[in-house]
Amino acid sequence: MDQVFTAQQVTDHVYWVGAVDWSIRDFHGYSTSRGTSYNAFLILGDEPILVDTVKAPFRDEMFQRIASVIEPSSIRHVISNHSEMDHSGCLPDVIERIRPRTVFASAKGAEALARHFGLSGVQAVADGQAMTLGGAELRFYETRMLHWPDSMFTYYAADRVLFSSDAFGMHLAGTQRFTDEMPWDVVEQECAKYYANILLPFSKLVLKLVGRLEELALPLKVIACDHGPIWREGLDRIVELYVKWATQAPTRKAVVVYDTMWGSTARMAQAVVEGLVAGGAWAKVLPMGGSHRSDVATEILDAGALLVGTPTLNQNLFPTLADVLTYLKGLAPKNLVGGAFGSYGWSSKAVGQVADALEAMGVEAVAEPVESAYVPDAQVLQRCRALGRAVAGRLAAFGGDGA
Ligand code: FEO
Repeated sequence: MDQVFTAQQVTDHVYWVGAVDWSIRDFHGYSTSRGTSYNAFLILGDEPILVDTVKAPFRDEMFQRIASVIEPSSIRHVISNHSEMDHSGCLPDVIERIRPRTVFASAKGAEALARHFGLSGVQAVADGQAMTLGGAELRFYETRMLHWPDSMFTYYAADRVLFSSDAFGMHLAGTQRFTDEMPWDVVEQECAKYYANILLPFSKLVLKLVGRLEELALPLKVIACDHGPIWREGLDRIVELYVKWATQAPTRKAVVVYDTMWGSTARMAQAVVEGLVAGGAWAKVLPMGGSHRSDVATEILDAGALLVGTPTLNQNLFPTLADVLTYLKGLAPKNLVGGAFGSYGWSSKAVGQVADALEAMGVEAVAEPVESAYVPDAQVLQRCRALGRAVAGRLAAFGGDGA
């Protein structure tokens, strides 16, 4: 087969040999409107090392990129920082074709690779372990639950590269390999989306990890993440953003999420928004008929409030709201106040279900839910405005530039 994919040099000894997935639009429930990449890296030395692999269908692309630098069979070692299949999917093929001398993973990674693929013989490395392979000095750091139990970082001392697995990455396809080659607003937006949809539930561990990185004080030139462009500039900036996102400090921003059958809940949502704005907050409105759950998660990352409106359908909340509330519950956002509202016909059930779901998520209700039988009248709309004002009152102490 003619070669169409080539490696891209990252540092003196490190080459990117991953794959770009331009067409993916759904990454296990997360909308990836800009595609993604699966980053794998080659460390060249006396004993070439492959760090991570790519999703199974991209195997040939990775092998072509490797072959543009070295004969793939000359790879002596493989390091699997994370066993999720977007990074390990073609590891069995790699092992079969290359027959590396050793495959390394964390202890949990070795266990997971055995369960995923029946791989035996993966050598477990310990947290903090140092190792020299063909002259390449490496150190391994477990990053458990960031975001799987097996996740780890690998540090390559000579070129000061931290292979950070999913951390500090983003779903963003491109021909550019470095974040500084792409518009910063796009990079920041996609990193925020990645954090909100993947790492948010583990925010306490993120803060611990940042503390550990500060203690380790590893000299860093590049953070080579496993998705999207990698970092050779702005390393401090992305770490600072991780601290900000992990802290989840509330702002004056309120996220209003709703769906509607005949326009009644939509009118209520608009009245809630009027109340929010009149009270000095600002609102991001996400009608679920045209919004994706993962964009709701992203908007919540820098918000102080979540208000949710639903019609009642067959004595239940509307399916799109059930979807987004289930998703958000798993992401466990913190430091939010909010409230519930919605219309019903002959059976008032759904708004209470939303209120219960918000309570289960730890969202503090600042007022009673607002319900409307059929079409909201002036009194109901006034109560919706009051709900918005009450929420805005709770957010008044916080900042936020309304961006
Ligand atoms: Fe990109 Fe957790 O895999």
